Amino acid sequence: DGVRRRDFIYIATAAFGGIGAAAAIWPFLDQMNPSADVLALASVEVDLAPIAEGQGIKVNWRGKPVFIRHMRAAEVQEAQQADVSSLRDPQSFDDRTQEGHRQWLIQIGVCTHLGCIPMGIADGEPRGDYNGYFCPCHGSHYDNAGRIRKGPAPTNLEIPAYEFLSDTSVRIG
Ligand code: FES
Repeated sequence: DGVRRRDFIYIATAAFGGIGAAAAIWPFLDQMNPSADVLALASVEVDLAPIAEGQGIKVNWRGKPVFIRHMRAAEVQEAQQADVSSLRDPQSFDDRTQEGHRQWLIQIGVCTHLGCIPMGIADGEPRGDYNGYFCPCHGSHYDNAGRIRKGPAPTNLEIPAYEFLSDTSVRIG
């Protein structure tokens, strides 16, 4: 994250010593150390407190949109009741969420067909035939757990690695 990156540069410049030397190696560090920039984007912390039940947000992680939805209890129930064996990419709702945090559905908002961004995370967007997510590019319909139900997409929306830091804070990546 940003703090660590600054720490790294501070330590690196200190190791080379001298204010003049530090000024001289700044551009060098910026050009020669792209891994620091990659690391800065490797994970993102999201405050979930402002997301009301039934609402979703989109955050950017490694250049990709990540959909975070705060599901209502009834939506969780509906998703858990789906007949998993009939699915193209059989996955239970519990496979796609974490115990103790079932109400938070966190998935990569990239259609698994050819990579368009499906609709359905923002208020008022079309949610397709399964009340979930709809990719308008070639008509893929995902259910409210992000599982493919209809259309050309071969697999469910991908779930990124994430970890809850508290009930209202999650780190993605
Ligand atoms: Fe989504 Fe083709 S990219 S249906």
